[in-house]
Amino acid sequence: MIKYLNIKTLFIIYAITFSFLVHGYNCKIVQFIFGDSLSDVGNNKYLSKSLAQASLPWYGIDFGNGLPNGRFSNGRTVADIIGDDMGLPRPPAFLDPSLNEDVILENGVNYASGGGGILNETGSYFVQRFGLYKQIELFQGTQELIRGKIGDKEAEKFFQEARYVVALGSNDFINNYLMPVYSDSWTYSDNTFVQYLTQTLGDQLTLLHRLGARKLMVFGLGPMGCIPLQRVLSTSGGCQDKTNKLALAFNQESSQLVSNLTSILPNATFRFGDAYDVVNDLITNPNKYGFNNSDSPCCSFGKIRPALTCVPASMLCKDRSKYVFWDEYHPSDSANELIAKEMMKKLGFKPVNQTESPSPSPGPAMAPSTDDN
Ligand SMILES: *[C@@H]1O[C@H](CO)[C@@H](O)[C@H](O)[C@H]1NC(C)=O
Ligand SMILES: *[C@@H]1O[C@H](CO)[C@@H](O)[C@H](O)[C@H]1NC(C)=O
Ligand SMILES: *[C@@H]1O[C@H](CO)[C@@H](O)[C@H](O)[C@H]1NC(C)=O
Ligand SMILES: *[C@@H]1O[C@H](CO)[C@@H](O)[C@H](O)[C@H]1NC(C)=O
Ligand SMILES: *[C@@H]1O[C@H](CO)[C@@H](O)[C@H](O)[C@H]1NC(C)=O
Repeated sequence: MIKYLNIKTLFIIYAITFSFLVHGYNCKIVQFIFGDSLSDVGNNKYLSKSLAQASLPWYGIDFGNGLPNGRFSNGRTVADIIGDDMGLPRPPAFLDPSLNEDVILENGVNYASGGGGILNETGSYFVQRFGLYKQIELFQGTQELIRGKIGDKEAEKFFQEARYVVALGSNDFINNYLMPVYSDSWTYSDNTFVQYLTQTLGDQLTLLHRLGARKLMVFGLGPMGCIPLQRVLSTSGGCQDKTNKLALAFNQESSQLVSNLTSILPNATFRFGDAYDVVNDLITNPNKYGFNNSDSPCCSFGKIRPALTCVPASMLCKDRSKYVFWDEYHPSDSANELIAKEMMKKLGFKPVNQTESPSPSPGPAMAPSTDDN
């Protein structure tokens, strides 16, 4: 018995020493975020020719020092809130001049760019933006940099342990398919466009897996036919039903795609989460959630609608926490909080620091959920 214990203890000591020697560099778990303006934390600020900008007041009024920071909201993004709740650092924008290998190893990178889509052609009238393929290309550059810094083996481990967020799709509809200036709008039907979009997304997620992504979440779309910009298109001011149906079709297809990929790709834990139903309910019954307005932007240019963006001459609503929408396109900080909580509930997330086993590598941030799709 004693002998057995000793051997076991020796083995443990050996295992710890061995693993220390092999994994001398203990990498942190960080996030790599791919997305559009709903997740952008400053990339477009550095794309000087981009027309999709959040660089003027009153963007950022409820964040940090209250100055514009590149987020297309008054406060936090959904990815900010989910990451915070999981105990993960907030990754800086890829184009942030302070980004270097040490910052990446500590915090990850956010490649999200306002106006970007799943498709390369989406958002071309913004002149400059990173679409998802471009964002993945930039991520490959980041991988080169990290391999040079910590070596191939450690880099592989670092990228496999990281968390990935992919949150795009609304621009592929709002700033592509639903706009007659884009050829996709006359090339495809509702069905074939959603197919084309999800097939492209499938190729992109498979590519990310090949590059090392193992724990990844895809955000679905909200009822984008109800954003203020879509409402002003109808005389009644109601939601655009056709646009909402497209969002639902995209969510259904991509949810299936993500669950297919999880079963096909080795070691992949890819999850899909959307907050469509809750946001739809919030828009229909704002009072139920403590909101007071769900049909117009908090920041608007007097009675001139739609205002393309929030500018210093715009007027702000009295209580920003009671508005679902911050500007014509984007939810407010308080709506983002509701969206984030709903997604976390659906995905059954646990914070990375809440792990029961004393294993040296933190447990999965994406624990299996009970209401699996
Ligand atoms: C995990 O991290 C969160 C956020 O950083 C913190 O509030 C919480 O207390 C931590 N939980 C544990 C078990 O350490
Ligand atoms: C999309 O853009 C990337 C570069 O950003 C390029 O490598 C790729 O070939 C393009 N794909 C298509 C289908 O145009
Ligand atoms: C998912 O897999 C099922 C069963 O193989 C297939 O019928 C379906 O078309 C796939 N869906 C997507 C979006 O890949
Ligand atoms: C999957 O995980 C196992 C066990 O950790 C590992 O041996 C294998 O190389 C992994 N495969 C891929 C493709 O990541
Ligand atoms: C918002 O509050 C104002 C003033 O209390 C009230 O007149 C209005 O009906 C409310 N609107 C909604 C959508 O709750």
